[in-house]
Amino acid sequence: MELANRRIVLGVTGGVAAYKAAVLARDLMARGASVQVVMTAAGQRFVGAETFQALTGQPVFSDAWDARIENRMPHIELSRRADVVLVAPASADFLARIAHGLCDDLLATLCLARDCPLLVAPAMNRQMWEHPATRRNVATLRDDGVGFIGPDSGVQACGETGEGRMLEPSDIAEHLCAHFTPKRFAGRRVLLTAGPTFEPIDPVRGITNLSSGKMGFALARALAFAGAKVTLVAGPTTLPTPFGTRRLDVTTAMQMHDAVMAEVGGADLFIGVAAVADWRVANASKSKLKKTAGGAPPDLQFALNPDILAAVASLPAAPYCVGFAAESEDLERNGQAKRAAKGVPLLCANIGHATFGRDDNELLLIDEAGLTRLERADKNTLAARLVLEIANRLEAAAPDRPKARKSRARRRGKHA
Ligand code: C5P
Repeated sequence: MELANRRIVLGVTGGVAAYKAAVLARDLMARGASVQVVMTAAGQRFVGAETFQALTGQPVFSDAWDARIENRMPHIELSRRADVVLVAPASADFLARIAHGLCDDLLATLCLARDCPLLVAPAMNRQMWEHPATRRNVATLRDDGVGFIGPDSGVQACGETGEGRMLEPSDIAEHLCAHFTPKRFAGRRVLLTAGPTFEPIDPVRGITNLSSGKMGFALARALAFAGAKVTLVAGPTTLPTPFGTRRLDVTTAMQMHDAVMAEVGGADLFIGVAAVADWRVANASKSKLKKTAGGAPPDLQFALNPDILAAVASLPAAPYCVGFAAESEDLERNGQAKRAAKGVPLLCANIGHATFGRDDNELLLIDEAGLTRLERADKNTLAARLVLEIANRLEAAAPDRPKARKSRARRRGKHA
C-alpha cells in the first residue's frame, strides 16, 4: 500500500476528463490513500457528487459555506486535513483563478489557505493550453511552487489532436507515489538491465528463460520515485515502461552488453537484474531450419556471451555495482562466491524458481558487512526496501557526486 496513511484532497473542476477523476479516486484508494473530493460547480456538470461520495465513502464538498463543517470554515478544515491537494482535471479557468489568488469558490479558497503541496493535472483543448494567457498562468503557478502532472498529448474529446489531455489516472497515481518518496537519488544516474534475453537459433526459434522482468522494472520505478535519472535496458518482455524511466529494448545478450557499454559512462549505479543467457548459438541459421522425415536434429554450436555485470564492475571508473543471483540452493555460499567472482560490492541472492514470473520475492543481500534479509513481499514493496539499502551503501561509497553534478547543471541552467 504505497499511499497508506496519505490524505489527499482531490479537486475536480469542469472538464470532460472529470469522468476519469472517478477512476483516479479509486486508484488512489486502492494504493491506501484516503480521498476527500472537493468539486467546482462546473465539475458537477460533468460528474455527479454522488458518484464520488459512493466511491470514496466521504461526503463531497463544493460550497464554501457548507454547514456540515461545524465552524463553517470548510476551506481551513479540509486543507488542514490534507497531505496534498491534487486537482485533476484542472481546467484553464481554474488555473487562471488560482494563478491570480482568487477565492471565488471552495476549491480555489482551500488552494490559497493550504500549507501542504498543490499538484495539478491540467485538462483542456490544445488551443486553450497553448493560449498566451494560460502560458502566463502556468509560469506563475510553477514559480509559486505548484507541481504540474502532465498534460499529455493525443486525441482530445473535441476531436482535435495536441497537448492538453489529462494524463491517465494510473499515471497520475504514479506521480503521487513519486511525490511522497524521499529523493535519496536526486542527481544520481542509474543504469539497470532487466528481463530475459533471447538467443536466436533461426529466424523463428530461439533460447530464452523464464525471467519476467518484474523485479528489474519494479526497481527502475522505485529508483525513479527516489529521484534518480533511470535508464533501463530491457530484454524481451511485454511489461509497460515504468514511471520516469528511459527504456532501451534489446533482444540478445550481445545487444544488451553493447547498450550497457554505450550508456554506462557517467552512471553512479549499475544494477544487473537481467537473466542474461550464458551462451548464444554460434551457428544460428539465417533461414528457418527444416525438419525432414528421419533427419538428424540440428547441430547447434554455442559461444560464451560476455558477462555484462563483471565487465561493468571492472571498468576503470566503474559505478557502484549491484548484482543479482538466482540460485536453487545454498543462497549464502553461492551468493558470496558470485559476489567475489563478479567483483561487485553488493549481491542480491534469491531462489530462482521462487521469483521468476512471480509478483513477490525475498532477497538475501550480501556485502562486505555481512548479510541482510529482505522479507518476502510484492516486488514493488521489495524494490522500495532495496532502494533504501542501496542508497545507504551508495551514499557511504560516493557521497559527493550528485552535488558536483547538480552545481554543474545549475551553472548550465543560468546560461540557458
Ligand atoms: O552468473 P550469473 O548469471 O548467475 O550471474 C547473475 C548476475 O550477473 C546478474 O546480476 C546478471 O544480470 C549478471 N549477468 C550479466 N551478464 C551475463 C550473465 C549474468 O550481467 N552474461
